[in-house]
Amino acid sequence: MSQLAHTAAQRFEQIFGHAPTGVWAAPGRVNLIGEHTDYNGGLCLPIALPQRTYAAAGPRDDDIVRVASLDFDEQAEVSLDDVAPGVPGGWLGYVAGTIWALRERGFAVHGLDLATTSDVPIGAGLSSSAAIEGAAGGAASGLFNLGLLDSDASRVTLVDACRRAENHIVGAPTGGLDQTASLRCLPRHALLIDFGHDARVRQIPFDVAAHGLRLLVIDTRAKHALVDGQYAARRANCEQAARELGVDLLGRITPEQLPDALSRLSDQTLRRRVRHVVTEIARTRQCCDALEHGDFQQVGELFNQSHASLRDDYEVSSPELDLAVAAARGAGALGARMTGGGFGGSAIALVPVAALDAVKRAVADAYLAREWTPAHVFAVHAAGPADRVAVHEAQLVE
Ligand code: GLA
Repeated sequence: MSQLAHTAAQRFEQIFGHAPTGVWAAPGRVNLIGEHTDYNGGLCLPIALPQRTYAAAGPRDDDIVRVASLDFDEQAEVSLDDVAPGVPGGWLGYVAGTIWALRERGFAVHGLDLATTSDVPIGAGLSSSAAIEGAAGGAASGLFNLGLLDSDASRVTLVDACRRAENHIVGAPTGGLDQTASLRCLPRHALLIDFGHDARVRQIPFDVAAHGLRLLVIDTRAKHALVDGQYAARRANCEQAARELGVDLLGRITPEQLPDALSRLSDQTLRRRVRHVVTEIARTRQCCDALEHGDFQQVGELFNQSHASLRDDYEVSSPELDLAVAAARGAGALGARMTGGGFGGSAIALVPVAALDAVKRAVADAYLAREWTPAHVFAVHAAGPADRVAVHEAQLVE
């Protein structure tokens, strides 16, 4: 059992005076490719991270959601009756919003006590928000016997509740990639998600270690936040372009139709946004093919193209991300790109084992030369989705 699960259980008992019913956990994610495509009805290809958020939980017989955040050393509570857009604010909104969304959907949920702790870096573009939503939602499902973790189909229901919390209560207009990854990814696989067809999924084997490679995350430590206006502005660009082109979603436009679509748009910015979305969806499809054929040179090349498109056409990169990507490539990475929403956060790099040290050193040196806060670089693998963590009774009361 994870040390963090143990810590959550122990601290729950100290804080609330009785042992928790159980511990639930949900992972952060990195998206391998398919960025800013989810809300356009396109393809995404995330993996779940080994890093996860743990929630030790017990039911209450009233409607209060009470949470002790061990990492922030804070406690907060709210009645489910008071949950509304923007209320409660801060991290409690993700937790209470998810429970609220389940109740809105007709599930018989009540209040609960939670103690949470996490090793998903916060504000790093690795979906710490989806991890806390998934852990809280999984806990509610377990405590109130909703069975939402029992099958992939029932997990879809929980994805919707987590996303509703984020969109409606927290106020981040995100597209569903993060929650789908946290709840539906499988170990040693990337998850191809088709947001143009009800988020249907296909599991793509992803085990780079077996090919002498590592996937590095480079957390630039330049904070990103999705509630600020830039993410919403990109969505608005896409909606406007779709209206002008007479499609419900930009993902409906094929690469063959792209030149004609671009010629019909009046505005240069909208043209760039559409070009990113359509080409990124095509790259995601190509990346799946390359992975299935073990062609990692091609995967790396697609990472590089994706980064250029996000930087130049979608304009969501940052100097910290561009430098990390350039340094990694210069030191031997097969490819590198920003991952997640952008405007700071993390990059990923696909690196031969023999070049690992050189890549880490190159990133460190590049940041040092600019006197930036050092980036945090670590290898990840495709881990499993949100679930209940086996914690033995003896460990809970230890
Ligand atoms: C954030 C959002 C996702 C997705 C990505 C960009 O992570 O939460 O829904 O839009 O940005 O691909």
